[in-house]
Amino acid sequence: VSARLAGEDEHLYADPHVYQVLHAPGTSGEIRVFERIVRRELGGDGPWRWLELASGSGRYLIELARRGHRGVGIDLSEEMTAYARAWAERVGFGGRAEFRAGRMERFRVRPAVDVAFCPINSFRHLGSDRAVRAHFGCVRAALRRGGVYLLGIDLHDPVLAQPSEDVWSGRERGLRVDQFVSYVPPAAGSRSRRELVISHLTITRRGAAGAGRGATAGVTHRDSRYALRTYTLKQWRELLRAVGWRVRAVCNGDGVPVAVKPVGYQLWVLSPED
Ligand SMILES: C[S@@+](CC[C@H](N)C(=O)[O-])C[C@H]1O[C@@H](n2cnc3c(N)ncnc32)[C@H](O)[C@@H]1O
Repeated sequence: VSARLAGEDEHLYADPHVYQVLHAPGTSGEIRVFERIVRRELGGDGPWRWLELASGSGRYLIELARRGHRGVGIDLSEEMTAYARAWAERVGFGGRAEFRAGRMERFRVRPAVDVAFCPINSFRHLGSDRAVRAHFGCVRAALRRGGVYLLGIDLHDPVLAQPSEDVWSGRERGLRVDQFVSYVPPAAGSRSRRELVISHLTITRRGAAGAGRGATAGVTHRDSRYALRTYTLKQWRELLRAVGWRVRAVCNGDGVPVAVKPVGYQLWVLSPED
């Protein structure tokens, strides 16, 4: 990779296909949720032009293309971008889903998009106020007037925060990927805003005994760790005010507008203030 993720070893995103197998389940359901929100916010059924920040393997934009939309994705990882581009070409959506290697805090996209989106905490890869301000500036410049930004983020409560764990699994023919993830929040009372994410991947390939680094009898293990920036509800609201973005709605995982929760994951529907 020529562009490296600050403070992160590369294992998690270095093998885009492993990432894709792990994250594929549920993608079309998530897209239907995004469409539901956009329909409610913008009216009509589209198709719309979408911009994904941190587009990874391309799964969301390719599913959007399948559903008749167009879009462009920006991702720091050249491996991820090349994988997404090749996949889009292979399934005949190269003209509708475009992928660029770049930073979500330094990009320019034309023509303007109807919707920008950055789900599953990817926004929290931005490690400083400066990067975050630059990011919102770029998204503002990319959105058409009246466009919306869907941002999916877990908020943090320093009093309630506890270390937690998640298990994810995905499979396709001859390949199974299991991920065990530990989330270690900043120590209580510390001023740190870095949540440590520790991932253990188990990759099982049928008929690939001994292949790859750390492989035994077709099983490869990969450990990686990286930090995500934390936001309390207060910090998040102050940030949105400082960058001049308005909250149109806050939605649950089904895309239904709900009251703001001070902890946990929600989809924020944002627009730049005029
Ligand atoms: C959790 S993955 C999400 C990928 C995709 N949105 C998905 O859900 O499948 C996070 C992605 O963020 C990208 N990333 C991290 N920091 C970035 C930055 N500053 N600019 C652009 N992409 C970044 C990584 O390369 C990685 O592909």
